[in-house]
Parts: sequence; structure tokens; C-alpha cells
Amino acid sequence: MPTKILHKERLIPGRTSKLVLDAPQIAATARPGHFVILRVDEKGERFPLTIADTDKEHGTITIVYLVLGRSTQMLEELEEGQFIHDVCGPLGRATHIQRFEAPKKVICVGGGTGVAAMHHIAKGHHEAGNYVIACIGARNKDLLLFEKELSLFCDEVLVSTDDGSEGQKGIVTDLVKGRLDSEGGNIAEVVAVGPVPMMQAVSELTRGYGVPTTVSLNSLMVDGLGMCGACRVTVGGEMKFTCVDGPEFDGHKVDFAELRSRLGSFRSQETVVREHHRCNCFEKKEA
Ligand code: NAD
Ligand code: FES
Repeated sequence: MPTKILHKERLIPGRTSKLVLDAPQIAATARPGHFVILRVDEKGERFPLTIADTDKEHGTITIVYLVLGRSTQMLEELEEGQFIHDVCGPLGRATHIQRFEAPKKVICVGGGTGVAAMHHIAKGHHEAGNYVIACIGARNKDLLLFEKELSLFCDEVLVSTDDGSEGQKGIVTDLVKGRLDSEGGNIAEVVAVGPVPMMQAVSELTRGYGVPTTVSLNSLMVDGLGMCGACRVTVGGEMKFTCVDGPEFDGHKVDFAELRSRLGSFRSQETVVREHHRCNCFEKKEA
């Protein structure tokens, strides 16, 4: 169904934008962890985006995307008042959220654009009554997302930047390690959303502490219905489909090496797109 863009905010111009969509049916049932699949126009590819927030009262959902390939570039060209050809959802399994009694706490980790998707999960933990520590990381202060939004409900928001321009200098796993060390056994669960190497690093770190860890996998998807097999991942030695069995899985059981290899399968095609669209994100990554 054509879906109207009610509000658009270029969070990081040329790189990351936020859209608030008029999608009452999706907003009514979407829960943290769910995602949508979009087609920008009739012939466009179908691509998934995790829901960053919902407003049931106003019938809206919020999505945040990194302008990375042809489809997100097409999305970036749409403005407020225009329509996305179709938005299908909510898809996937919602985050398993349980209440942990004090002094137990939950750490929600977000890297780069993944912070937006983590925001919805952190909100779910807060609404369940959990003490939530958000750890967010970006390469520099200009790339930090949702710090203000998270601070509205999280008990603590810890920030790291690779270059030290805001918060602690270093990568976000340094923040997580610091809290795992200082909290003793009080961390009940860690949830991580962001670049695959980050989710892998978080999972490897928490394994040593015996802390259950959930990751939200951003596999390639086509139908989003469990039919095509494009999104398959190996978890605990079993084949799973990210679109219907996930997107969240036990980080200690995910075969990250296979996932990274599959995500790299279309790098050459993405390079062709990238040569046609010299968007700022590539300029920054190459700098
Ligand atoms: P990025 O590469 O700029 O990394 C952001 C931060 O993540 C870094 O500053 C660092 O703190 C941390 N990080 C990165 N690599 C790490 C490593 N090896 N070990 C420890 N920490 C590490 O992020 P970006 O360019 O904004 O990319 C965002 C990624 O998140 C994209 O790959 C996108 O597909 C993914 N994403 C996933 C979801 C999801 O639902 N799974 C949602 C949105 C975005
Ligand atoms: Fe086709 Fe998941 S996207 S099986």
C-alpha cells in the first residue's frame, strides 16, 4: 500500500535520514525488534529496515536508514508529503523482553546507524521496568545518533567515539567491557545492534562473562516470508531464516564468519551503484 512520508529529517546530511511514516496498521501491532520491507517504486528492490519507533496514537512508525545503495538513494530522494510505493510489516519476531528485578540491569549496545533500531528495543526494556544502560558508539561526534532520544528514558547513556570527539575515546565494546567489569554479576542481558563486526565483538566479549546476548542480524532479504532463502544464517549449527526466525538471535550461537561472507556477496554490484551515486557516506568511509 502506498505509504505517506509525514516527516523527514536528514540526521546526517547525505548519509543518514529519519522518516516518520503514516502507517496505522503497522503501528498498531509493531513491537520492538520488528522490521518492515519497503519498495520505493513499483520495480524497486525489496529491502528491510528495522522499526526505530512507533506511535500507536498517531498511527506512525519511524525508520532510520543509511544511504548505502541504489534503493536507499531512491528513498533519500523522496520528500515529506510524497509516498513510498509499499511498506510491508511488521515482520519478524519481536524482541523477547523479560523483567529483571533490581539490581539486575540490561545493556543495550548500538553502533552507528544500528543505534536507531536499538532505540526501540531499549524502550521496550524500559517499559517492562528494567534498568537500561545504553552504550552507543560512532566514528565521531557528527555521526552519533539518538543520544537525546535515548536519554529521555534510559537510566544511563554512555557514549564512545573512535576519535574521542565525544564521550570515551575508542569503540563501543570498550564501554560494554567497562560496565561488565564494574557491575559484577548484575548485567542480566546484553542486546547489540549495528555493524556485524561490532555484534560479533560484543558476543565474543560477553561470552567470557557468561551474559546472555541478543543480536539483530541485518541479512540480505528478498521476500521476507521465509520462502526464498536469501536471508539464511547458521545459528547453533542449524539453518535459520532471519526474516521469520529472527532477526534477533543468540549472539553466542551465530556463525558470524558465514554471515560476513554472505553479506559481502554483492560487493561488486554495490560498487557499480556507488560509482553512479557519489554520496557523502562513501567519501567519508574512504577518507
Ligand atoms: P560504523 O562502521 O561507523 O561503526 C559504528 C560503531 O560501531 C563504531 O564507532 C564502533 O564503536 C563500533 N564498531 C564497529 N566495528 C566494530 C568492531 N569490529 N568491534 C567493536 N566495535 C565496532 O557503523 P555504520 O557505518 O553506521 O554502519 C552501521 C551498520 O549497522 C551497517 O552495517 C548496517 O547494516 C547495520 N545496521 C544494522 C541494523 C540491524 O537491525 N541489525 C540496523 C541498522 C543498521
Ligand atoms: Fe527470503 Fe528470508 S528473505 S527467506
